[in-house]
Amino acid sequence: MTDAHSLVLEAVTKVFETPEGRLVTAVDNVSLSIGQGEFVTLLGPSGCGKTTTLRLIAGFEFPTAGRILLDGRDIAHVPPDKRGMAMVFQSYALFPHMSVFENIAYGLRLRHWPKAEIERTVGEMMALVNLSGLEHRRPASLSGGQQQRVALARAMAVRPKVLLFDEPLSNLDAKLRVALRAEIRRLQKQLGITSIYVTHDQAEAMSLSDRVVVMNAGRVEQASAPAELYTRPATRFVADFIGQANFLDVAVERVAGGWAEITLWAHPMRVPAHENVRPGPAALMLRPEAICLAGRAGACAARFQGRVRAVTFLGSAVEYEIETHGQTLTVSDREAVWGGIFAEGELVGWDFAPERGYVIP
Ligand SMILES: Nc1ncnc2c1ncn2[C@@H]1O[C@H](COP(=O)(O)OP(=O)(O)OP(=O)(O)O)[C@@H](O)[C@H]1O
Ligand SMILES: [Mg+2]
Repeated sequence: MTDAHSLVLEAVTKVFETPEGRLVTAVDNVSLSIGQGEFVTLLGPSGCGKTTTLRLIAGFEFPTAGRILLDGRDIAHVPPDKRGMAMVFQSYALFPHMSVFENIAYGLRLRHWPKAEIERTVGEMMALVNLSGLEHRRPASLSGGQQQRVALARAMAVRPKVLLFDEPLSNLDAKLRVALRAEIRRLQKQLGITSIYVTHDQAEAMSLSDRVVVMNAGRVEQASAPAELYTRPATRFVADFIGQANFLDVAVERVAGGWAEITLWAHPMRVPAHENVRPGPAALMLRPEAICLAGRAGACAARFQGRVRAVTFLGSAVEYEIETHGQTLTVSDREAVWGGIFAEGELVGWDFAPERGYVIP
């Protein structure tokens, strides 16, 4: 276990000037506190400022405004190589003329570690990332997955205070991505290194992280644990970006203690609500799997009626588009595979448990 470190971003803004003299706000007043040993992922669409935020932390860019604190100390004037951070890139960025061993040993040699200590540490790192036996190979003779393991071992060997990842798995095929992300999580937990990971892949973000920071246009939309993001999204943007979501227009009558009294098509009910919800019009979010269909095991009422417009068989579930009250809902039905599939054009009753909905402004 290494000693863990904390990182704080205080109202950090980065404005770039393009060659044509146009100003681009890549990072817009971002505040974020990352705890010791925490694994935090920056997630968001292309151009939302993920890489810029990571580069600011690493010291490759200088903030236009705001402060960055490592263990409480402002690191604004600390050069990148003195920050005690290591970064893993999408492109691996290995030294092609060096062996695997020399690649991993590189940072240790720069730091003038004794020879025996270098050999021991590189051996340990190679075992950790399952590369033992490949120390004499050149990067070009390795698969993409093996090359990224070398990059990971190289980054971890220097025992960084903070480990930074910029889309490290996006050059790998889907199966390998899943395998390697599980490995990254295992290593990070084992070593307890405070880590910041950038991706636009929501499954990757959800499976790896203690906390996910959803960014949009340079700003933080929400920073929460994965399950919280999924069930309690703060905004429509987050709800849409993380998984699938249906939104229904509702009228909020009263709010109290995290719940809203709403009316949906003349049916009154109490549903969990975001703290910013006020009486008046709002949106009720329903995940496709939060909707149940009548006539299934598990007794679902037919409080609402709809007509099946499209049926997609996905194996583990059947996905329906159901037209109801002039709107189209996406419904994921896990019972259909064994319980019978509704046909296109069929009338179905549907309902949802109020506590599985969520009202957002
Ligand atoms: N050096 C620069 N000069 C001008 N604009 C820049 C510069 N670097 C980044 N930007 C702009 O800042 C915004 C954020 O870029 P950034 O690379 O941080 O996005 P990202 O979230 O990492 O996107 P992606 O998922 O595509 O990698 C973009 O509009 C980008 O064009
Ligand atoms: Mg990027």
